[in-house]
Parts: sequence; C-alpha cells; structure tokens
Amino acid sequence: MSEKIYDVSPEWASRAFIDDAKYQDMYARSVSDPNGFWGEQAQRIGWIKPFTKVENTSFAPGHISIKWFEDGVLNVAWNCIDRHLPDRAEQTAIIWEGDDPSDSRKISYRELHDEVCKFANILRSRNVQKGDRVTIYLPMIPEAAFAMLACARIGAIHSVVFAGFSPDSLAQRITDCQSKIVITADEGLRGGRKVPLKANVDAALKKCEGVDWVVVVKRTGADVFMDDVRDFWYAEAAEMVTTDCPCEPMHAEDPLFILYTSGSTGQPKGVLHTSGGYLVFAAMTHQYVFDYHDGDIYWCTADVGWVTGHSYILYGPLANGATTLMFEGVPNYPTNSRFWEVIDKHKVNIFYTAPTAIRALMQGGDEPVKKTSRKSLRLLGSVGEPINPEAWEWYHRVVGEDRCPIVDTWWQTETGGILITPLPGATKLKPGSATRPFFGVVPQILDADANVLEGECQGNLCLARSWPGQMRTVYGDHARFEQTYFSAYPGKYFTGDGCRRDADGYYWITGRVDDVINVSGHRMGTAEVESSLVAHAKVSEAAVVGYPHDIKGQGIYAYVTLMDGTEPTEELRKELVAWVRKDIGPIASPDLIQFAPSLPKTRSGKIMRRILRKIAEDEPSTLGDTSTLADPAVVEDLVEHRQNKR
Ligand code: PRX
Repeated sequence: MSEKIYDVSPEWASRAFIDDAKYQDMYARSVSDPNGFWGEQAQRIGWIKPFTKVENTSFAPGHISIKWFEDGVLNVAWNCIDRHLPDRAEQTAIIWEGDDPSDSRKISYRELHDEVCKFANILRSRNVQKGDRVTIYLPMIPEAAFAMLACARIGAIHSVVFAGFSPDSLAQRITDCQSKIVITADEGLRGGRKVPLKANVDAALKKCEGVDWVVVVKRTGADVFMDDVRDFWYAEAAEMVTTDCPCEPMHAEDPLFILYTSGSTGQPKGVLHTSGGYLVFAAMTHQYVFDYHDGDIYWCTADVGWVTGHSYILYGPLANGATTLMFEGVPNYPTNSRFWEVIDKHKVNIFYTAPTAIRALMQGGDEPVKKTSRKSLRLLGSVGEPINPEAWEWYHRVVGEDRCPIVDTWWQTETGGILITPLPGATKLKPGSATRPFFGVVPQILDADANVLEGECQGNLCLARSWPGQMRTVYGDHARFEQTYFSAYPGKYFTGDGCRRDADGYYWITGRVDDVINVSGHRMGTAEVESSLVAHAKVSEAAVVGYPHDIKGQGIYAYVTLMDGTEPTEELRKELVAWVRKDIGPIASPDLIQFAPSLPKTRSGKIMRRILRKIAEDEPSTLGDTSTLADPAVVEDLVEHRQNKR
C-alpha cells in the first residue's frame, strides 16, 4: 500500500464547496440528525408536493423497507430539464462527441426539453403508461438520454441494457421486467466498428414474448430488417408529435429505473431505484464530489448502460443544470490521445473514468498524453474497481500534471451514488484509497463472525444505515433483496466488498469477497459464466474464478472438465471463448481456459473455489488446508497445467 499523502492545496480548500472543517461538521450532523440533514438537502430539487416525512427505513430481518421523502411528489425529468429553462435554456446541457472525431453536437436545455417531450409523446402514443417498463438498448447517442428522460417524464420505468450484451442477455432482461416496448438503433458505432443492435433485438425477441413495439433510431443508416407491425423509425414518429408533454407527478417512492447487475448466484437481478431519494443523492454527490460549479464542463466516460452513466452522465449532472459530455467512442480510437484531445476540444474541467482505461493508456506511455494541452482540467475521478497506486500516480502526474486532485469514488449499482470518496477541497489523498465516507454514510468493517471491528482493521464492508440513493428492492423479488444484502450480517447492508481501514480512518477497498469478479470495472457473476460453459455440449463441468490482470484488474479464469472422450484441443478452447461471448456478451469472454480432468471437491461434492482461486492467482504455496478434499491429487494436476497470463 502506498504511504504517500497528497495535501489539499490552499486554492482547492478555498474554492471548493466543502473544506475539511465543513466536511467534519456536515458529516457529524448527517449521522446525528439524518432527518434534519436530508430534509434540507432534499430542497436542492423541486417538489410538486413537499414531503413531510424524511427517512422511513428498516434493516430489521424480515422487515427490510427503505423509503425516503415518501409523501413528496416530484418529476425527475422536470428537475433535470424544465426547472432550468428560465435561467439556462440556451446553455449546453449535453455535449455529444461521436466515435469519429469530426462528429459532435451540442444540445441546449431548450433542445433537450423538446427532444425529450417528443420522445415522451411517442411513448405515450404507443400507450406506454406510468409504471410500464421500457427496455433501452442503445449506443452512446443523445437519443439514449432523451429516451431515459422521456420515460422519467411520463413515469415509465426504464431498464437500460448495455449495448455490448448479447441477444440472450437482452431477452432475459426484457422477460424479467416484462417490457412491452424496446428502444434500439440500427447499429452502434465504437472504435470504428459497427455493432448490429437491431439484429440483436430481432434475435432477442424470438426468445421472449410481450413486446408490442420496437422504436429504432437511425445511427449508421444500415439496411436493417423492420417488422411491418412491430418496428418503427424514431425519426418518422418524431415528426408526428409535438414538443409539449406534461410531466407525470410521481411519488418519491415511485420507481425510476431498473438496472440489471450480476451477483454471486443465479441470473442478474433487477436493481430498483426510485425517484426522490435517488435524485437528491445523485445531484448532491455530483455537486460535492466533483465540486461542480456553474459553467464547468464535466465528462464521465462511462456508458449509460451502467449505473455510472445513469447517475453521473445523466441524472446527477442534469439535476444540477450542468454541461455533461457524452462520448460514443473508446479511449484508443483513432489514437491513444483521444481522451485528451476531447478534453482540449471541449475544454473539459472535470474528468471521471475507470482504472482499466487509465492502465491501458498508461501502457502507451506519456507521449500521447503530453502532446495535448489539458490545461482546462481541474479535477480527475476514478470509479469501478480498485485503482492501483502506480496507475493513480500516473493519472495524477502525467494526466493531471500534479495540479488536479483525484477523487477515487467507491460505490455500486445498488448504492445509486457515491458512498466513499474524497471531497477535493477537504480530503488529503492517499493513492489507492477511496478515503472517507460521504455524508450520511456509516461504513462498518466486520469479521466472518459478524463482529464489528474498530480502528485499524480488515474485513467485510457493511453499511450500518440507509442513505437516500439506496436501491429499494430487487425488481419482482423482495425476498432475494433481503437474502442477498441483509442476511450475511443481519441489521446491516452487506456490500460484497472486502475493505481495510487504516490508522487515519481511511478506507481501502480490497475487491469482492463473493463470487463476483470485476473485469475492466464491469461486474460479472462467476455462476453466469459457468452456466454458459456447461450449456456447451462438450462441457461436463466448469468453475470460474477471477485472477489478477494487468489491464482489466481481474481476468476470467475458467476450469473446464470435458465430456468423456472429448479431446482438449486449442480449437475447442477458442470455440468455448466464442460460445460465452455469443451467449452473454464480449465482457464475459474467458481470458484463460484450463482443461481440468476433474475439479477439487470436498467429500460432499462441493467445488473448493478457494483452491481454484489460489491456482489461478499463481499462489500454489498458499493453498491452505487441502485435507478435506475428496482427491488431493487433483490439485497437483491443476497446478502443473495452470494457464499463463496473457
Ligand atoms: O467491488 C466494488 C467495485 O465495483 C463494485 C460495484 O460494481 P458496479 O455495481 O458495477 O458499479 C460500478 C460503478 C459504481 C463494487 O462492489 N468498485 C466500484 N468502485 C470502486 C470499486 N472498488 C474499489 N474502488 C472503487 N472506487
């Protein structure tokens, strides 16, 4: 662990909304008087009907219930758009930067209003009503933002599915939330390559029922199949509707969106977020963590298919009347300088990206960065996975030229917004540490026996109380919500992450402690990859674990036992990688596959993953106790044939 400490500069302490003294005061109040604290913070957004109750939450076993501002009424799209029209109608709301560097567009708050109203009217004209689910499978184009906000405007619940997911993954998500309508594009465009989105939707819809309409946005102009009854072009429908669409009044606890995320077991679950608390939390964290001031140009490089895109490209920034940049492309196209060129082109002040991108760019050396100016940059952010101190230092020294603080923000799809993070005017930085809790957040570190550890310690990270951005349930399965997050440590929310607290009370996230792996900042359930592998006719058994990967953070290591009589060939290895890729999506492709004659099991037949992890991590000397194995010889074979990292 890095011992270096970076002090808050005097300029930052004076310019920022929050300095250290203010952080201490506000944090103390947020935990001693949460109702007063959050009641005040909730005034940052507009309410159609003010709330009279602030927090009504319970983590008690059997009674998990999370409600904030529950009798308040609001509309999220009104807060993100209409509220700003009197003062900033002509201000740019969204800067869109296309995959091709010559392709960009600026959308003012007035244009955003008109586009969102048109999209909302299209949905209403297809009978989409409050509470209906709308699946959005779009690339990073402005229509993705319009579609999400259109749903929010009419009270429909959006479920955005990352455009890198396969038809099967899409079908599963459409079925789970019973969407009647899917919004997609002809094709996506990333790094110069086309992604056949409409064709994927067609394939998905062969596997699920109940979808009446498919709205297709034209992106590349490809010649795609259009079903006469079901499919229609967005642009044509948009000509038939007006730019006037009243906002649906929503209760604070009415759902805003579902976002599917992977867990330890089973299929991805639909994380449900609601309207009032989520928006208050997204807006507040966006303002304080990024120290967002009026006029700043802010860029989060995430995809809207992930929670980071929801909270910190769209809802948080727009609720604050910000200018938010949306990027269609990838960091290394056309060259490794792309991020930095975009920063110069649009004079970006605040830049928020993932460690995996930083590590990949770091490999290309300093030159592609140094040839750009980046003088507009003031603050850097990191999210999605632990950032190793070397990558942190490079980001700080080369990208930020030692003048930009880095906010290493820890949070999850489930948390709705950032929970552990530095505040740039308040917090001394330690490379690799997410530092201190945000307001209202009470982290606890527990050991395996559920003892709350004090002071310097390491264990499992829990949250002792609710915060307004917390997920409310697993869509359609409240029992799974309770089981997943509240059963390991009754009375507390268990994050699934391991964590260390140092002598200064700083938190260092050590990574997942469950069967979830974090590949390039994307969550993947090992069980999902395993069930995909065993669905292949030649596979008898599979066990998947993570292993350290220089760029991705973690790579996917699969142990595969083949059906009797099947030859373990290189060809089959490639076939299995392609199989998983097609089944789930490219992000689930195994990096390494080891053909294993058998897997280490206990006498009762349970696969010993601890051992498989150690072998994949190339730490065979720390295998620990193998005496409970049914056949200890299995391990020797596995160690001997371990696959080398690429
Ligand atoms: O393991 C933690 C890791 O990402 C997980 C959450 O993944 P997801 O729901 O996809 O959301 C990612 C974007 C918020 C966490 O359980 N993680 C996220 N941010 C950090 C992190 N690990 C270490 N440091 C972070 N800053």
